[in-house]
Amino acid sequence: MESGAVFAAGLHPNPPPCSAHLLRRAKLLPPPPKLFSLQLPKQSHFASFGNYNNNNNVTSLKVASPASNVAVELADIDWDNLGFGIMNTDYMYIMKCSHGENFSKGELQRFGNIELSPSAGILNYGQGLFEGLKAYRKHDGNILLFRPEENAQRLRMGAERMCMPSPTVDQFVEAVKATVLANERWIPPAGKGSLYIRPLLMGTGAVLGLAPAPEYTFLIYVSPVGNYFKEGLAPINLIVETEMHRATPGGTGGVKTIGNYAAVLKAQGAAKAKGYSDVLYLDSVHKKYLEEVSSCNVFVVKGNVISTPAIKGTILPGITRKSILDVALSQGFKVEERLVSVEELLDADEVFCTGTAVVISPVGSITHLNKRVSYGGSDGVGRVSQQLYSALTSLQMGLTEDKMGWIVELK
Ligand code: COI
Repeated sequence: MESGAVFAAGLHPNPPPCSAHLLRRAKLLPPPPKLFSLQLPKQSHFASFGNYNNNNNVTSLKVASPASNVAVELADIDWDNLGFGIMNTDYMYIMKCSHGENFSKGELQRFGNIELSPSAGILNYGQGLFEGLKAYRKHDGNILLFRPEENAQRLRMGAERMCMPSPTVDQFVEAVKATVLANERWIPPAGKGSLYIRPLLMGTGAVLGLAPAPEYTFLIYVSPVGNYFKEGLAPINLIVETEMHRATPGGTGGVKTIGNYAAVLKAQGAAKAKGYSDVLYLDSVHKKYLEEVSSCNVFVVKGNVISTPAIKGTILPGITRKSILDVALSQGFKVEERLVSVEELLDADEVFCTGTAVVISPVGSITHLNKRVSYGGSDGVGRVSQQLYSALTSLQMGLTEDKMGWIVELK
């Protein structure tokens, strides 16, 4: 690893599980840090490798590990009440390279804070991208990734737009696998959630004049997550934003650059203060066509036709979006990627959102210029949204056969 940023190891008193052991033997992991205040579990069946949460509490929940064929004890957290928040896990992945060079070799490090120059490109000029994908634990203990190579390709596309070098698809996927296995005990039990994987690509070298940074860091961290919206799987209520815009033609709305997300906070905050779940953006030219919600793509359903705004540079090419289009087609729906007007939205039978974090979220109501339209059945969840949600999540969790070839199993 090249020098530059210094990564301070956090205080993690838990010994890593067996898969981390194997990774270490394969020289993918550094040795674990010294343990502090280590207490033996009182009633653990695994006294030899008892697990501790950030408060040093002991858990005895164990699952089969595909990586080691030995049961792994899960982290001691409330798996039944996971939201979408950050939890410090055991390891993160780091790979660095200089401007004009290629990424070559990364490594796993203990999860912890990173040190940056105050003039790092990402801090001063927003030269940064992120990705999001998930690992699911199957009932048989296998760990599944959903289309990780799609995230790798999207990161490469974004890197080109943001003048950054990027890992190859293989480097990306291998780094994701290594990070997930190293943090195996943080993957929720089957059916309780997923391990959210957050790759970052950032200009970490120091610059003052506006220019690409001289050094780049590719970093992956993970956190166990449940539902994204506080509504859980219940329908969300959106408001159409008519003043502020998320993206403009020729801008960076179509790539996952960090600035796109800071830009929506103001409108999102105002909407939440009024009781809405989030904001639906319109195009900035005609101010009448749907773009996306702050953190997800949007679909409208009318009869047997499912439509979503076409990807033309201002909308994020979501991997869940793309997958849902294919799943819907395979289930006999007609799908359309085109301009979708706000009038069509208000006249739709159903509306739903898709994204890695939100998965598929049914929309219960849309408010536009003080007019509120409600969708869905008695519980607010439309039949089509429900059907597509079941089809996609069964696939992602390994409950149905993967005829699409989208699942990567970590064995
Ligand atoms: C995701 O869905 O993974 C995203 O990146 C959205 C993010 C704002 C949580």
